[in-house]
Amino acid sequence: MVRVSLRRLVLLMILLVVVAIQFFPTSLDRAPADPFQALEASLQPGPEVAGMLRRACNDCHGIAREWPWYASVAPASWLVAHDVSEAKERVDFAHWAQYPPHTQARLLEAMCEEVHQGEMPLKQYLWMHRNARLSPAEVQLFCAWTDRERAKLDGGR
Ligand code: HEC
Repeated sequence: MVRVSLRRLVLLMILLVVVAIQFFPTSLDRAPADPFQALEASLQPGPEVAGMLRRACNDCHGIAREWPWYASVAPASWLVAHDVSEAKERVDFAHWAQYPPHTQARLLEAMCEEVHQGEMPLKQYLWMHRNARLSPAEVQLFCAWTDRERAKLDGGR
């Protein structure tokens, strides 16, 4: 009789489950957004701020997506897709120009606040993307930029 150790059986089961869940893909929204609706086109931040947004925020709130390969393997892909859809519900850089000015002003304020408090980028994202961490000097630059943009919006009312 073939003897299968419990350990092997458990490993085999885990493997089967991991393979099986790959048949439940997520639909990360990969539709290209209209570039003229995008935050970068609309606000034209300088290179430093644009770099920060791309490096630290765009994967969830924007268009660019530089997720590592394992982010498309379930169950990691489910977590990623969940974060991305929730992120876009709150702030969608790709459709920035569709927000009315008072909403843009509120979101800019929230962006500075989240970054300042170290809430954004999300901690689990930083595990995978170490270079997405913003230094205190960068946070200052970032908030100076959101302040300037908010002042423009308030002035334009
Ligand atoms: C890994 C994905 C991810 C990244 C990267 C990320 N966010 Fe978020 N963001 C989320 C999710 C999910 C939410 C909604 C849940 C929450 O607030 O924790 C959110 C919410 C927000 C909100 C709304 C908070 C509110 O009051 O509703 C702001 C503002 C924000 N993010 C700004 C940023 C900025 C700025 C960056 C880059 C510095 C960034 N996020 C990077 C996933 C992300």
